Amino acid sequence: MATRGFDLNIALVLGLILSVLEASNGGRTSSYVRNDDLSRDMPLDSDVFRVPPGYNAPQQVHITQGDHEGKGVIVSWVTPDEPGSNSVLYWVENSELKNRAEGILTKYKYFNYTSGYIHHCTITDLEFDTKYYYEVGIGNTTRRFWIVTPPKPGPDVPYTFGLIGDLGQTHDSNRTLTHYESSPVKGQTLLFVGDLSYADDYPYHDNRRWDTWGRFIERNAAYQPWIWTAGNHEIDFAPDLGEPIPFKPYIHRYHVPYQAADSTSPLWYSIKRASASIIVMSSYSGFGKYTPQYKWLEKELLKVNRTETPWLIVLMHCPLYSSYIHHYMEGETMRVMYEKWFVEYKVDVVFSGHVHAYERSERISNIAYNIVNGLCTPIRDQHAPVYITIGDGGNLEGLVTEMTQPQPSYSAYREASFGHGFLDIKNRTHAYFSWNRNQDGYAVEADSVWLLNRHWNFLEEFVSDSGDIATL
Ligand SMILES: [Fe+2]
Repeated sequence: MATRGFDLNIALVLGLILSVLEASNGGRTSSYVRNDDLSRDMPLDSDVFRVPPGYNAPQQVHITQGDHEGKGVIVSWVTPDEPGSNSVLYWVENSELKNRAEGILTKYKYFNYTSGYIHHCTITDLEFDTKYYYEVGIGNTTRRFWIVTPPKPGPDVPYTFGLIGDLGQTHDSNRTLTHYESSPVKGQTLLFVGDLSYADDYPYHDNRRWDTWGRFIERNAAYQPWIWTAGNHEIDFAPDLGEPIPFKPYIHRYHVPYQAADSTSPLWYSIKRASASIIVMSSYSGFGKYTPQYKWLEKELLKVNRTETPWLIVLMHCPLYSSYIHHYMEGETMRVMYEKWFVEYKVDVVFSGHVHAYERSERISNIAYNIVNGLCTPIRDQHAPVYITIGDGGNLEGLVTEMTQPQPSYSAYREASFGHGFLDIKNRTHAYFSWNRNQDGYAVEADSVWLLNRHWNFLEEFVSDSGDIATL
């Protein structure tokens, strides 16, 4: 008992030191000024958009998690000329035993555009922590890729998530993806916080730009899951073009395992992966009280088992806290609805995009206001999430550079540069977040912070007060 108490004291002291670090690395507006050329989309004949050779060869191959706990994968691809095969052949590395899974086929029209044949194949019951090869296509246009399934969920499973948002398909987008791929940190799964192709910025929402984007990201998204969040550029609501159904191209092209999360919509869902529970929300669907999203989240937060998955991460496109002028306070209605829950359930970190820049908040909350008490200023709150805006993927709309002045006290670090991030979970108590800007080398961290898990941190304090480890 004495040894465990000693270990606990060391952990507590370490925790306190890291708490100070977490709190002290704050309040900076970076002086870095980017050479701000307008971000231009890569031309349609760029090599990154290359169509794979062969008649009807599968293209735009991408994967995402296919079940709730990580034993499933959804493989998606497009065949341009005819339906082709719906099946995926897969096998464990070095195994002779090949398995086949059957997928489904869909396609859609959008104004004057007709999509290719979009395939989605869910593979279930894979082994955890195992390398698999998989193949799509027929005959001499068969294409082969590989994936590594995540470890079985558990509290101390280390795992590294990448973070990219608002990517688009410019030269800057390409730099962001290259930096992510080339980083020594090595992301295992990418959390994508919305705004994918920006096809809707083109006349008639030119859906060919959905196809080029799918080919652009294949080099990474065919090999590791990208966890999807819908942004405003996925809405594609254009009744003037005869397209009144929101999210039509996105929902046809990017399937997610929402039914496994008891959700009724692919726009909000959850997954478990390694030591994290990830909740994906939709900023552009009904979220007021009694709406389907509200009712789902109310139940979902109760289900999260922090003993199994200590890290609770929320993704939503529109940030609840951002001190940039562009999109200022657009997340306010969502904040009013849900911030209280995020504090109550000790969400560790909320990642968002939308604002084309980078910002990291202190742990703050603003939930005391009741209309008459005047308490409407964010305060430091160790139960609250860190809010990270990472909408700096590099799309054609460019960076937002105008910031509210002075920098509000809730804002720890902000910088208008393109880049990407990593959430490197070490164990149940500690994770390390880092942000890389595209102008630096692959290994350079322009901003970073140690995150102490909200659930276990408070449990440790509780145990040290009571002196009784058995209460764990
Ligand atoms: Fe956006």
